[in-house]
Amino acid sequence: MVRASRPHGFVSDFNTRSRDPKALRPQALKPLRLRYDLAMALTKIGILISGRGSNMQSIARACATAEIPAEVSVVISNRADAAGLEWARGHGIDTAVFPHKDFENRKAHDGAIVGRLAEAGADWVCLAGYMRLLSSVLIDAYPNRILNIHPSLLPSFPGLHGQRDAFEYGVAVSGCTVHLVDLELDHGPIVVQRTVAVEGCADAEELAGRILVEEHRAYPEALKKLLTKPWSIGGRRIAFGCGAD
Ligand code: GRF
Repeated sequence: MVRASRPHGFVSDFNTRSRDPKALRPQALKPLRLRYDLAMALTKIGILISGRGSNMQSIARACATAEIPAEVSVVISNRADAAGLEWARGHGIDTAVFPHKDFENRKAHDGAIVGRLAEAGADWVCLAGYMRLLSSVLIDAYPNRILNIHPSLLPSFPGLHGQRDAFEYGVAVSGCTVHLVDLELDHGPIVVQRTVAVEGCADAEELAGRILVEEHRAYPEALKKLLTKPWSIGGRRIAFGCGAD
C-alpha cells in the first residue's frame, strides 16, 4: 500500500491502521475509508503553491479524511516564504522550494519541478495559488493530469484579479472553476464550477471571501470526480460516468 509508507503526521492513525490487518476491524474504520484502503492504491498528488496555501490545505484534509482516495506526496513552491510551506511541514508533508529566479528560463524551472514531482511519485499535480504560467515541460510531463483553481466562473475574468474584475464588472453571480491545465492561461477543460451570489458584498474582498469558501469545496470535489469515476474529454467537455471511456 503506497500511502502507508509516508510519514504524514496528521493522518498517522489512518496510516498505521491501514498497515495492520488486525486494525481493519469494522469498528476501527469508517466504511468509506475501509473501501479505499482495500480496493485501490492511493493516487499521489503533488501540489504547487506560491503563497497562503488554503486550497492546498483543503486538498490535504480531503485526503486525510479519505474523502478522496489520494495522498499529498509533496508540496512545491517557487517562493521560500510561501506561508503554506510551513503548514505542510507541520503536517509531515514533504516540501521543496525552487525559486524561479535561480533558473535561466521557465522551462529549466519547470524541469526541476518535474524532477522533484517524479521523485515524490506524483501521479497528479494540483496548482493551488501557484502564480506562474506553466511551460510545455510540465504540461507534457502530466498530460491532462494537472489541475488549477481559479476564483471566477471561467471563461469570464481569467487572470490575476478574477474576484476584483467580476465585482467591478457588476456581475450578480460569480464563483470558482477547477479546470485541467493547458498552455493557455486559465483555459483547459472545466471539471467543477461552484457559484456565489454577489448581492450584499460590500467590496471585492468580501466577494473573494465568499468565493474562497466554495473553492475549498470545489477542489476536493473535482479530484474526487476525476479519481473515482471514468471520464473522457471531447473537445472542451469532460464526460463523467459510464460510457465516458
Ligand atoms: C485562490 O483564490 C485561487 O483561486 C487562486 O489563488 C488563490 C490562492 O489561495 N488561484 P490559497 O493560496 O489557496 O489560499
